Formats: sequence, structure tokens, C-alpha cells
Amino acid sequence: MELAVVKDLGENLGNVREAAVFMEAIEMRQRLFRQNKKNLCLLDPYDLISDHLILRSSRDGKPFAYSRVTPLSKCLAHDLLYPVVPLLSSCREYPEAYARLLSAGHEPLHMGFLCLDPAYRDEVASVKIVDLMIWLGFISSGFALDQVSFTATPNAKFNQDPWLKVIGDWAGDMPDFIHPLIPEAHRMVIIPKIYDSYWTSRFSLYSELYKSLRGEREALPRAA
Ligand SMILES: CC(C)(COP(=O)(O)OP(=O)(O)OC[C@H]1O[C@@H](n2cnc3c(N)ncnc32)[C@H](O)[C@@H]1OP(=O)(O)O)[C@@H](O)C(=O)NCCC(=O)NCCS
Repeated sequence: MELAVVKDLGENLGNVREAAVFMEAIEMRQRLFRQNKKNLCLLDPYDLISDHLILRSSRDGKPFAYSRVTPLSKCLAHDLLYPVVPLLSSCREYPEAYARLLSAGHEPLHMGFLCLDPAYRDEVASVKIVDLMIWLGFISSGFALDQVSFTATPNAKFNQDPWLKVIGDWAGDMPDFIHPLIPEAHRMVIIPKIYDSYWTSRFSLYSELYKSLRGEREALPRAA
């Protein structure tokens, strides 16, 4: 398999190859998320400013796993609300947790829209996809790893807590909320500071895999 990362699409819409990689991934994202709700429509302005992480199959070159990473600074630069902000009113505990995130003074990265096509599960049999995609999101972001924070709003039914707990302490003890797009219980995960142990353990788990994914074209941003 191979990792493709589409960045700054809004500035590169004339780049037909880049746009085609994005659209292929969007077809998969749309198809897989419609399993949750049949009439879901998932294109939004964040698609133009986010990093799109796409794993492609070594069997047929097709995308089979995806996640999207949206940095706070990109939102601010484009007059968009950081993705969790419209959700803060869902619960009285959320605004304080978000304030703690901002006061950490790091670059919050919002990771979302994780999906994996089950037809290709064998290609990532040795890893938990949420864990791998989060780490790839961090290291592909271009931000210094000691300067990033994390947020996500996973659907509670997928039991991803163990993989989100290794990243860092969650701000607040917060109830779930019903997501406006998919009306099911979702977690509000806000992690102002990433554990040092997260970096050590994930670099040791995934560094070799990363080199093979990128065909050794790129150096890792930080040694283990
Ligand atoms: C989210 C996703 C990437 C997880 O893939 P995965 O890590 O390989 O995990 P699985 O699909 O096996 O599911 C993980 C858990 O969710 C549960 N689950 C999966 N689909 C479910 C469903 N439709 N309803 C209830 N539970 C479900 C599984 O039973 C499993 O539980 P377990 O960990 O206790 O065994 C994948 O299920 C997917 O692409 N889903 C569609 C897109 C989506 O809704 N993404 C939301 C991400 S928050």
C-alpha cells in the first residue's frame, strides 16, 4: 500500500491529477459513511483547506482508507470555525474543555472522517486503522510535533477510546453528544497536550511502515 496526502486543495483545484486523487478518496468516504445514514452528503469548505490522508491498495491502486486533518491556523486563515466550535453548545462541559485546548498554546489538529473499506482490511491486518491514521495525520501535518494538540469527534459505536486514550489526557469528563450529520452518540475528544510516550511508542511501531508507504521519498519529521 501507499500513502497519498492531498494538501491545500483550494489553491490547487486546477491541478487535475491532485483533484482526481481527492475525488477518488471522496467517492470512498461518501460510500463508506453512507452506511451510517443513507442520504449523507459530505463535501464541505474544510475539504479545501485540510490534509486528506489516503491509503491506496498495492493490489489495484484504489484508495481504501482515509482520514482528514484540519489545523486551527488554516481555519483562522480562511475565516472558518475550527470544526468542534459549532458543536460546543451541545453540552455545558464542552466550552471549558475547548478553552483548555486553546490555553495550551499549541496547534490544534482536528482529525475526522476516518474510514476503511472492509474489502481491503487484509492490507492493514497488522494495525488498528484509527491508530495508524492518527499518527500519519500528525506527521504529515508539517507542524512541529511538540507543538500540536488533538481533537476528534468519533462515533461512539466504533469503540475507539483505547486508541484515543494513548495520545494524551482528555480535557474534561464529558458526556457524548448527538452529531448533527449522523444522529448517533459521538464523543467529544479534546487533548491539549500529547504524551511523550505516545510519540515514542508510535514512532517505534510505525516508522518502518511509514518509510515503505512513502517509498523512502521523505525523511521522518522527527526521530523516535
Ligand atoms: C470506523 C472504521 C474505520 C473502524 O474500522 P476498524 O477499526 O477496522 O473497526 P471495525 O469496523 O471492526 O469496528 C470497530 C468496532 O466497532 C463496531 N462496529 C462496527 N460497525 C458497527 C456498526 N455498524 N454498529 C455498531 N458497531 C459497529 C465493531 O463491532 C467493533 O467493535 P469491537 O472493537 O468491540 O470489536 C470503519 O468501521 C469504517 O470505515 N466505518 C464507516 C465510516 C465511519 O462511520 N467512520 C466513523 C469513524 S468515527
